[in-house]
Amino acid sequence: MRASYNGHYRSFPSYRRGFDSHRPLQKSSESRPESRLGGFLVSRICFQHRLMNHDPQDDAGADGNDQPDVNIAENATLRHRRIRSFVTRAGRVSPGQQRAIDDLGPRYVVPYTPQPGDWDALFGRQAPRVLEIGFGMGATTAEIAAARPGDDFIGVEVHEPGVGALLKLIGEQGLGNIRILQHDAVEVLEHMIAPDSLDGVHIYFPDPWHKARHHKRRLIQPKFVALLVSRMKPGGYIHLATDWQNYAEQMLEVLSAEPALENTADGYAPRPEFRPVTKFERRGLRLGHGVWDLMFRRR
Ligand SMILES: C[S@@+](CC[C@H](N)C(=O)[O-])C[C@H]1O[C@@H](n2cnc3c(N)ncnc32)[C@H](O)[C@@H]1O
Repeated sequence: MRASYNGHYRSFPSYRRGFDSHRPLQKSSESRPESRLGGFLVSRICFQHRLMNHDPQDDAGADGNDQPDVNIAENATLRHRRIRSFVTRAGRVSPGQQRAIDDLGPRYVVPYTPQPGDWDALFGRQAPRVLEIGFGMGATTAEIAAARPGDDFIGVEVHEPGVGALLKLIGEQGLGNIRILQHDAVEVLEHMIAPDSLDGVHIYFPDPWHKARHHKRRLIQPKFVALLVSRMKPGGYIHLATDWQNYAEQMLEVLSAEPALENTADGYAPRPEFRPVTKFERRGLRLGHGVWDLMFRRR
């Protein structure tokens, strides 16, 4: 049976309740349908006002309200929605990235569909398959894919300039073993990756969501890890890296508590040869910041 992610859900804030058909009717509105209509119109106007004035920063609860208000428009008909690990940013796509998207996108970007992908057909071969979540600008992805030509890499990233940047590297270096999905990795895992099919998972420097009230947005949570593990082959590995100590501790705790995983190291792992040190990481190391790698294997 396929595992499905039932992470964190939130209730809609009060301004949405005008749309909540499950809410018990007030006695007065039951007897006076016109007041129900009035209430509906008022909440509709408030809702539209919120939509028009929506600030993406509110997505992270920056309005002082701890309830993130992400993508209200997209989800206007849903009562509950998942808290996402990312905020959709407008990000500028450079002309070079756009060219790469136009020229190489049709070949290397796999459109999201809520069905398992035929990855052998999409790569044109059968080879060990590694999923990378949140590849950013794709430099690490390209470097690892170039060094491991016998493996195939599915890179998932929501940020469009990052997709363009990785496509550009694919074109410049002639990398045939990468495919890209521009979509929420949770949904990709749920729907497009078959159970027991991945040989490896890479998640490098996932957003640390520093503030305690945003920790619920961190990707590495028990239910997400259970979903990940269900998509890995027995013997497959999961490799994480972070430069945020508090998140490293959470990662170690969550992965150690997952019964289907075993730690390949005693606590944190040494950086494996195949993971290059990023520019950003090198600067952090010079400033005395730490980096923690974790390497677990599915039993
Ligand atoms: C802090 S960046 C790290 C990028 C890169 N791995 C690196 O080491 O430089 C985290 C990236 O994860 C992406 N991301 C976060 N949650 C995601 C999700 N659920 N699905 C796909 N991408 C996600 C973000 O868009 C962002 O680019």
